[in-house]
Amino acid sequence: MAHLRLGDIAPNFDAATTNGDINFHDWAGNSWVVFFSHPADFTPVCTTELGRTAALNGEFQKRGVKPIAVSVDTVDDHNAWASDIGETQGTPLNFPIIADPERKVAELYDMIHPNADSTHTVRSVFIIDPNKKVRLILTYPASCGRNFDEIIRVIDAMQLSDEYNVATPVDWKNGDDVIIPPSVKTEDIAANYPKGYTEIKPYLRTTPAPNK
Ligand code: BEZ
Repeated sequence: MAHLRLGDIAPNFDAATTNGDINFHDWAGNSWVVFFSHPADFTPVCTTELGRTAALNGEFQKRGVKPIAVSVDTVDDHNAWASDIGETQGTPLNFPIIADPERKVAELYDMIHPNADSTHTVRSVFIIDPNKKVRLILTYPASCGRNFDEIIRVIDAMQLSDEYNVATPVDWKNGDDVIIPPSVKTEDIAANYPKGYTEIKPYLRTTPAPNK
């Protein structure tokens, strides 16, 4: 299969999950989606990641985002492991995990990287917008738990960029100044960025957070 790239439509599929059978696009509806793989159930790093995602579900909901995970395990294994997640991570699992024992979804999304591990998924993250477009791809090795604060941060950045035609600088956090894209002509700034702007270089112009 071709590798997925930013801007591609996220491939659709039918699958069994811990919340019943789904059609991925129908399940996503008009929400943003954080679709992430983990190598295997009953493993320590994955347990912490899924617990953290469950704890952050309120933050995802505020942003119109649904999380969903996948691994090459069965629904029965996911369900058995879910009780461990609730017990050890302090939050019951509150989002679906896709069962993919035949690796159909993993292969559709190129989540198995044979030179890293020939059977399990790596830690992929796909952030998908309400138009089903892939907006962000991250790939981490099995040994490194991901930073879910970064996932929330980048969702905030993308949603802000979509709404206000701004870009976000290095290490941006919600509320910080943002960047006026170079495609915006200086004479159009006043009408579109009412909080004013600072020109550091002709190509580097900042404006206060437009959403505060
Ligand atoms: C883990 O989730 O802890 C893990 C999974 C596969 C390899 C190493 C660690």
